[in-house]
Amino acid sequence: MEVVIAPAERLAVLAADAIEAVVRSRPRAVLGLATGSSPLKVYDELARRHREDGLSFARVKAFTLDEYVGLPAEHPERYRNVIETEIASRVDFAEGAVQGPDGNAADLVAACAAYEESIAAAGGVDVQILGIGTDGHIAFNEPGSSLASRTRIKTLTAQTRVDNARFFGDDVDRVPRHCLTQGLATIMSARHLVLLATGRGKAEAVHQLVEGPVSALWPATIMQMHPHATVLVDDAAASRLQ
Ligand code: F6R
Repeated sequence: MEVVIAPAERLAVLAADAIEAVVRSRPRAVLGLATGSSPLKVYDELARRHREDGLSFARVKAFTLDEYVGLPAEHPERYRNVIETEIASRVDFAEGAVQGPDGNAADLVAACAAYEESIAAAGGVDVQILGIGTDGHIAFNEPGSSLASRTRIKTLTAQTRVDNARFFGDDVDRVPRHCLTQGLATIMSARHLVLLATGRGKAEAVHQLVEGPVSALWPATIMQMHPHATVLVDDAAASRLQ
């Protein structure tokens, strides 16, 4: 596992570099996209490179990590809409090239299986962007998640609902209780994992991720088993590293 400690702006450039390298060498590359605050500067940088340097995503496919269950199609916090706003609409993805699990499917179990099949049919993810929760979750794989899990329905922890209340008018009661999420084994199937974490609130999770034992209690620690994992952290997020 490679750990880079640098200011947030530099981390975004490094993550964008990883994506640009794969997109330029494989125009039909497959990206894994995360929502949340951690990747926002990366998406800004990719949009800039598309605008100014001609970086094209025209033949690229992308898969999001997770989705809330039951948010109306037009809800601004539905992850499919968030990704559209933050990156998809700012570059030149083809229609339908960005997919996410369907949190409004009549049969959620079937939707999870279909999502796994779509990722596999696309050839798997080349570069997966990740954030990390304060409790060590990646995607919505909360503590206790099976290290062998695939895309499935999960219940959000109270901590994650509190953390995400800022996106729902600071009202935790408006944060959905369930989600569909790629599993830890799904994420581990990606060929390169790039995790970003900034701020002191992530310091304990980053300490566990890099230096703790591999454990379902800190789900991100499974990344220690990945042959190509990059952890991009600022000084504050790195402050508990030994
Ligand atoms: C989002 C996701 C989550 C976030 C994590 C960190 O798709 O999968 O695991 O990456 O909750 O969120 P931020 O970046 O907002 O601190």
